Amino acid sequence: MIKKVNVNTLKKMKESSEKFSVLTAYDYSTAKYIDEAGIDVILIGDSLAMVALGYETTHSVGVDEMKIFTKAVAKGVNRALVVTDMPFLSYHTDISSAIQNCGEMIKSGANAVKIEGYSDYILSVVKRLTESGIPVMSHLGFTPQFLNTLGGYKIQGKTQESTKKILEQAKELQAAGAFSLVLEMVPEDSAKYITEHLTIPTISCGAGRYCDAQVLVSDDVFGKYSDFTPKFARKYGDMKSLIIDCAKKFDSDVKAGRFPSENEVF
Ligand code: KIV
Repeated sequence: MIKKVNVNTLKKMKESSEKFSVLTAYDYSTAKYIDEAGIDVILIGDSLAMVALGYETTHSVGVDEMKIFTKAVAKGVNRALVVTDMPFLSYHTDISSAIQNCGEMIKSGANAVKIEGYSDYILSVVKRLTESGIPVMSHLGFTPQFLNTLGGYKIQGKTQESTKKILEQAKELQAAGAFSLVLEMVPEDSAKYITEHLTIPTISCGAGRYCDAQVLVSDDVFGKYSDFTPKFARKYGDMKSLIIDCAKKFDSDVKAGRFPSENEVF
């Protein structure tokens, strides 16, 4: 029987210096194949706003859309921990609506939620969610939902002072109950220092080699999304060419009368 990954599995992996892998997925079959491949955590990232829905930023998706994608992904997964990214403004107004919205993701099949940022209010949200049985993955460094207040896609934690500030925030999130922490676009030395001073696993999203885990957007890994690829992403395939090639072959077969064949009709 397949043993499902849970928050304790990831904690134990950090304790035994075993790295884990995280990929995003937005649909049933991709989630199923990624799960079969042995990826440990599958994230329904709000990056789907860009790579699946074609928007310019992550700001444009809401709770209802994230619920639909969560249901599709959760149906495909047997082993990995399923985490849903809480969309922009879905947990910021008050604690009861934060719990309500995060609870909707758990009801849709997620095992945990991801929440960006740090503030006294966010700490209380993390604490109340954890107390309510909703595990929280935190996210510091560059936080895309704060794109407009951060003033663009900027590396965070470049100085000793800002690294210490991220670490202090991370420690408070850890104390509030967060089970892991995504560090996005943080220099590798800073991410290493932060990782060494936390008991929860850190997940690098462009934060170098010394985090406990690595996350990438699956459409970057598969070479499917081509509008923009960040420096830290590695492309392992060329799905864009594969899709164009298959579509071209189908198109020419249809136009030349080669599809359908005798075996493809009733
Ligand atoms: O939205 C997303 O896909 C993410 C990860 C890349 C960390 O937040």
